[in-house]
Amino acid sequence: MDLGLRGKVALVAASSGGLGYATALQLAKEGAKVMLTSRSEERLASAAANITTETGNSNVTFQAADLSRKQDIEEVYQVLASRFGPPDILITNAGGPPPGNFESVKEADWELGFQLSLMSVVRLVQGALPHMKEQKFGRVVHFTSSSIKQPIDNLILSNTFRAGIAGLSKSLALELAPYNILVNTLGPGRVATDRITFLDQAAADRQGIDIAEVVRRSQASIPLGRYGKPEEFAVMAAFLASPLNGYVTGQAILVDGGLVRSL
Ligand SMILES: NC(=O)c1ccc[n+]([C@@H]2O[C@H](COP(=O)([O-])OP(=O)(O)OC[C@H]3O[C@@H](n4cnc5c(N)ncnc54)[C@H](OP(=O)(O)O)[C@@H]3O)[C@@H](O)[C@H]2O)c1
Repeated sequence: MDLGLRGKVALVAASSGGLGYATALQLAKEGAKVMLTSRSEERLASAAANITTETGNSNVTFQAADLSRKQDIEEVYQVLASRFGPPDILITNAGGPPPGNFESVKEADWELGFQLSLMSVVRLVQGALPHMKEQKFGRVVHFTSSSIKQPIDNLILSNTFRAGIAGLSKSLALELAPYNILVNTLGPGRVATDRITFLDQAAADRQGIDIAEVVRRSQASIPLGRYGKPEEFAVMAAFLASPLNGYVTGQAILVDGGLVRSL
């Protein structure tokens, strides 16, 4: 199946590791020109080199940016324009906000969660829209969480701001449909990345049990009986981001092994 991605320019946010990296790799495999961005220049350089080695695609570049900062996002777009031109495809993504419940989360955490989880998405979309509207083609995929369907204990910032992204995504899908810009939200359940290890370790510390026991219980709660692999998430992201996707827009799709029980 040809996704039609050859030569398309894709900006993948938060992509030095985890789900962003897996998606950038998949897009590069399909022949897209890919720009990676995250905070660490060193991790980005290594990720870009790995992608080129693995795919043979040398059209992989990167720019360091803290996505919670407006100016950094503006710089990403300036650099992207000078290297590959403006994006046809935008993957919004960011590091997860700090864990905690309503009573433990501090004012500064709310502000960080707002800037990192929600405003980064707003600003990334703002930067991509002019070109997408002009050419009457664009694909936008927002990475969120299964929490858009079922809030997760002790992740109040994620539960709050990702629900905001889901609402934003649906509104954008409606507003941008006349421009052939398709907008979807993709929520991981528990896909094995550093973020999940971090959250499992935090749960182990809170409960005073071994992390292996946390993982065992967590996997037992998933109908498929295991954590997902980043590449299993990335293939869905690549399809939604591709020209082959011509009619899926405004959807909130989970890649969760059946974890969330709602319809
Ligand atoms: N994995 C899952 O199953 C799962 C489930 C639900 C929700 N999520 C959410 O999905 C998103 C991606 O998850 P993941 O599992 O891929 O996480 P991850 O493995 O921790 O990777 C996070 C990525 O974000 C980058 N990043 C972190 N803070 C950043 C910032 N301020 N500015 C720019 N880049 C930043 C990191 O790179 P640098 O360190 O180089 O900046 C890294 O590339 C997260 O928001 C996570 O909470 C994941």
